Order: sequence, then structure tokens, then C-alpha cells
Amino acid sequence: MKQTALVTGGTAGIGKETVRGLARAGFAVVFVGRDRRKCEQVAEELREDAKSADIAFLTADLSRLGDIRRVAAEFRAAQLRLDVLVNNVGAIFDSRHVTPDGLEQTFALNHLSYFLLTNLLLDLLIASAPARVVNVSSAAHRFVSGVDFDDLQFERKPYAAMKAYGQSKLMNILFSRELAERLRGAGVTSNSLHPGGVASNFADNTTGWFRLTASALKWAVGISPARGAETSLYLATSPEVAGVTGKYFERRREAPTSAAAADAAAQKRLWQVSEEAVGQAFPAPSGVAS
Ligand SMILES: NC(=O)c1ccc[n+]([C@@H]2O[C@H](COP(=O)([O-])OP(=O)(O)OC[C@H]3O[C@@H](n4cnc5c(N)ncnc54)[C@H](OP(=O)(O)O)[C@@H]3O)[C@@H](O)[C@H]2O)c1
Repeated sequence: MKQTALVTGGTAGIGKETVRGLARAGFAVVFVGRDRRKCEQVAEELREDAKSADIAFLTADLSRLGDIRRVAAEFRAAQLRLDVLVNNVGAIFDSRHVTPDGLEQTFALNHLSYFLLTNLLLDLLIASAPARVVNVSSAAHRFVSGVDFDDLQFERKPYAAMKAYGQSKLMNILFSRELAERLRGAGVTSNSLHPGGVASNFADNTTGWFRLTASALKWAVGISPARGAETSLYLATSPEVAGVTGKYFERRREAPTSAAAADAAAQKRLWQVSEEAVGQAFPAPSGVAS
């Protein structure tokens, strides 16, 4: 059976180019998007461009736990292998929103979707080993000095978009490292990355000065989404990083993180808090060192 990759946020920007690159590299690719019509258009465009019929999609609002669970079940029902999971979906929100699950939206989309989807599909990754999990984080993880476990979802302190986003991207690295530890010996690697400053649709959902500043930055210094996808594709496919796990990359090279992203206690606490938020425990897989 062809090697299979699953990519979240595959309808635009870095995710779309990741799907394109994986399909060109010979993977069967399933991507997740939230808008069925957009998914159909993107799938059609990429099938033609990559000369591959093996591009399919699933639809979900990945800020909703029920949708994440449904998508995981639909992927399982297709009885595919899972060689590569790219957790790529992400957004910044300029005001505080709460999802129907009662969760702050940045936390739900940018972190919990990575946490829950990966854990719900972990047995498939292990069964397909050697397999890889690639978590798209950001240099913005440096916007915060640590995860504020006392007020994770900005319920008491005033909401600040950059802080909420930065904290979620810090969580991506902490999650990626904890997953790597839990999977040691299972043949599944877990790495995170900063894609660069990319001229994608990122922050187009924001308004006012925030959107203006983001647009100006993207126009002035943004790299193309195709270049932005290079490190994700490198981590997903390159033999150079076979077996490399628990690391953070920029421009296809291992890179230093903030001290907060290397905090082993925070990494374990985040796992526990995430289990509580999604209402399900995910112990380390049996037979695998934790
Ligand atoms: N752009 C940058 O400079 C930059 C820098 C560092 C890190 N990153 C990270 O890179 C990743 C990709 O960002 P990007 O720049 O490619 O952004 P983008 O162009 O805005 O693409 C985001 C993708 O996520 C999808 N999405 C957004 N909300 C969703 C939801 N609730 N449910 C399901 N799908 C949803 C979007 O779907 P639609 O097509 O329907 O909108 C789109 O496919 C993110 O994790 C981001 O944090 C980006």
C-alpha cells in the first residue's frame, strides 16, 4: 500500500504546499479543511498539478473537539496506513472567542487539535512505523516566557492576541517533545518547526491595525508558501532526519528554542492539562518507553 500522509489546514498557505509536496513525493495524501467547496477545488488543482489521483480530503472545524473526533474516526474507517501526520492548522485571533466546547479558540485550534488528533491516531502511526509526526510551531513561541498554567485561556487577565498565539506555539513544541519521549522505541518520530515568515492567508481573519501590520510585514518580508513548506516537507520525508526526534527546526536545520520550550516539567503538565481539556486520558502506549 502507498505511504499515506495526513495534513491539517491543507486548503491554503503552508499546508496546501505541504500537500502538494507530499503528493509529488509519491505519498497518498489526505488533508483536512473546514470548507467543503474549497477542499474540492484545492484537491482538484493539486491532483492535476502533482499528477496524482491519491489526494483526498476530510472536512472539520478543527477548533471543535467533536469535529476532531469525527475526522479521526473517518480517517480510521478508510483503513489507510498513516506514515506521516503534519499538524499544520493554526491561526491568530485579535479578540477572545470561546468555542462551543467552552475553550478559548487559539488554545483549541492551535494546540488541542494537534494533541487530540495525534493521540486518536497514534496506534495507526505505530502500526505504520517508521512514521513521523511533524508539528508546525513558530518562532512566535518566544512571545511568552512560559505557559501560564494559572490562566491558560485568558479568563482572568486581559486577552492579548500575540500572547495567546505565542503561548499556543510554545505548546506545539512542548507537545512535540513530550510525544517524542512517549514514543521512544516505537519507531515514530515527533519534531516541530518554524516555517519562516510566510506570505500566506495568515492573519487575514483579523481587523484594523493588526491586519494592516500583518499584511505589510507579509508583503515586505514574507517568503512564498512553497518555501514556507520546505521544513515541513524535509521533516516529513528526508532520510537525513529518519530517527531524529524531539527536536525543533528552522530552515531545514535543528535550531535552538526558548528556555520555556525546553522545560520538561511544563511539557508533562501540559499533557495533563490537555487531557483534562479534551476529557480523555492518553497514557504512553504499552510496550513503549515513556
Ligand atoms: N504565515 C507565517 O508567517 C507563519 C509563521 C510561523 C508559523 N506559522 C504557522 O504555520 C501554520 C500554517 O499557517 P499559514 O501561514 O499557512 O496560514 P493560512 O494561510 O491562514 O492557512 C491556514 C490553514 O488552516 C485552515 N484553518 C484555519 N482555521 C481552521 C479551522 N477552524 N478548522 C479547520 N481548518 C482551519 C485554513 O483553512 P481556510 O483555507 O478555510 O481558511 C487554512 O487551510 C500555522 O500553524 C501557523 O501558526 C505561520
